[in-house]
Amino acid sequence: MTKTPHAVVTGGSGFVGSHLIDALISDGYQVTSLDNFGSGRPANISHINSDRFISIEHDVREPLPDLEAVDYVFHLASRASPEDFESHAVEIALTNSQGTHNVLSYAHDHDAIVILASTSEIYGNPEEHPQHEEYNGNVNIRGPRAPYDESKRFSEALGVAYQQQYNIDIRTVRIFNTYGPRMRPDDGRVIPNFLSQALRGDDLTVYGDGTQTRSFCYIDDLVEGIRAVANAPQSAMAGEVVNLGSTEEIKIEDLAEVIIEVVNPDCGVVYQDLPTDDPELRRPDISRAGELLGWSPKIPLSAGIKKTIPYFKTEIDAKSFVGND
Ligand SMILES: NC(=O)c1ccc[n+]([C@@H]2O[C@H](COP(=O)([O-])OP(=O)(O)OC[C@H]3O[C@@H](n4cnc5c(N)ncnc54)[C@H](O)[C@@H]3O)[C@@H](O)[C@H]2O)c1
Repeated sequence: MTKTPHAVVTGGSGFVGSHLIDALISDGYQVTSLDNFGSGRPANISHINSDRFISIEHDVREPLPDLEAVDYVFHLASRASPEDFESHAVEIALTNSQGTHNVLSYAHDHDAIVILASTSEIYGNPEEHPQHEEYNGNVNIRGPRAPYDESKRFSEALGVAYQQQYNIDIRTVRIFNTYGPRMRPDDGRVIPNFLSQALRGDDLTVYGDGTQTRSFCYIDDLVEGIRAVANAPQSAMAGEVVNLGSTEEIKIEDLAEVIIEVVNPDCGVVYQDLPTDDPELRRPDISRAGELLGWSPKIPLSAGIKKTIPYFKTEIDAKSFVGND
């Protein structure tokens, strides 16, 4: 009889983590979520009704709890909203340094495979477009995004250090903007902002002139990519880094128009100053993920937005009900 693989997911009650756990449970894994519920929510995992799942409240800045044999650690814990980059700067910086150290030494002790969540933010305001994994980025090390961007860069570098010194199997995914149900409406990221504003009948706030671009990946496609990374043979993925994201690039002003058209044509757009160091262009080169994993995203932006609206509608309606109570 083959043993049930045990996966620890840090940040498991967050947006990406909770969807990943759904997939791992359906794949037959035993899953332990470790989360401090800082930006994640118990409601994201409350639907999971499986004796192969447990959730432990734990902050990864502290050494990880003693658990039975662990085969995989998916390290997703880290606040990811630009709203938090200044207000939770030290927490973020330590989560991606001390926290990553705790995760990697734990994986080393368990001889577990690590899937390390990095980000397109490590490319900063890129001078190369699209961004290939070999591009080293253009990050302002003293800017307001630095606690996130630089700590994620350090997190990757610590992965390289563990790989070099202890030869553990670390697979790094550089995640580009991803969206879908279970993001917090007040998360501060652009799709939650726009959907919340449109559903409330407010004008949509575009920062800068709206010509900056992003490429938005629907959560199911991202989870497929992370799964493919975890399932790939050691010979293909150990020590590798891959971009995961959509190549469907769109100007932020055009995204606002798409959401207005789909959700509420009565809404307009208001412009505010662009935050410091906001990247002008963002699109992944995903050829490496294609070659190594045969992965590419399948869900077009318009379809993904439509799949996301009902969740935000429920969230906004629940909030306005509480507000009127
Ligand atoms: N969603 C995206 O577009 C995107 C893009 C790039 C990278 N990422 C990366 O993916 C991961 C998940 O992001 P998300 O979008 O799901 O954000 P999220 O905020 O929804 O999830 C992060 C989770 O980590 C938990 N967490 C934060 N600090 C912790 C700590 N010190 N100890 C334990 N738990 C902690 C939070 O409570 C939350 O549940 C992050 O590492 C993020 O950097 C996400």
